[in-house]
Amino acid sequence: MRTPHAFLMCPPEYFDVSYIINPWMHGNVRKIDNALAKQQWRALYDILTDLATVRLVHPQPGSPDMVFTANAGLVLGRRFLVSRFRYPERQYEEPYFADWFMDRGYEVSLMPRDIPFEGAGDALLDRGTPRLWFAHGHRSVAAAGEVIAARLGCDVVTLRLTDQRFYHLDTCFCPLEGGHVLYYPEAFDAPSRAAIERRVPAARRIAVGEEDALAFACNAVAAGRTVVVNRASAAFVAAVGRAGFSVVQTPLTEFMKAGGSAKCLTLRLDEG
Ligand code: ARG
Repeated sequence: MRTPHAFLMCPPEYFDVSYIINPWMHGNVRKIDNALAKQQWRALYDILTDLATVRLVHPQPGSPDMVFTANAGLVLGRRFLVSRFRYPERQYEEPYFADWFMDRGYEVSLMPRDIPFEGAGDALLDRGTPRLWFAHGHRSVAAAGEVIAARLGCDVVTLRLTDQRFYHLDTCFCPLEGGHVLYYPEAFDAPSRAAIERRVPAARRIAVGEEDALAFACNAVAAGRTVVVNRASAAFVAAVGRAGFSVVQTPLTEFMKAGGSAKCLTLRLDEG
């Protein structure tokens, strides 16, 4: 069960919904049960520590969304490209994430000031080929994909997100080992769907229905052959099972009030 993977997480000490920057947050300002959030975060942490190494970054008061470490930036080998958050509410997180990587000897670089980019929320490495799936439309801008391609020299496939509820790529798309991909096709525009279908053979595409997508089933932490999600239907578990993966479900309802779940709460460190 134990994999060579490593993830970065941030304890939910200051987690809350204190502003609205995505549709999931509407009606949830100050509605977080922090004790329950801590319990749910701890359950995810315990599952992941059995599967991989988990490292922690110190939470910061005034940065309630810092628990969503997926958005810290993009890791590639020993390089780290720090996010440039679209909304000022999350920009306070940037230096803390930059410091964490700097202190550990990573080669840290910044996006140009005027180019919003939200890290592994919108940039996901394929698990079968060296390509990087990058999405814009809500948070990151298209130009960020060009900066990544130029600076990190990877083959970037640019996708466009069209449904507000799926505002980050990792809410509707998840590359799995062996080149499989979990995705919710309706979250993308037609050219993007075609771009995915051109590159991933039908037998490796696991298209997820709306109900699973809204339960954040695509927001999966993949560790080897295990896929950890908030909640998934029997059909999802069967489809993922046919591809050779087992599904672990752990409720993350408090984090969904902020628009995030399992994958958003982690940043994979062993990349590239
Ligand atoms: N409230 C956070 C935001 O809107 C949630 C981030 C979820 N993270 C993710 N990688 N999808 O930025």
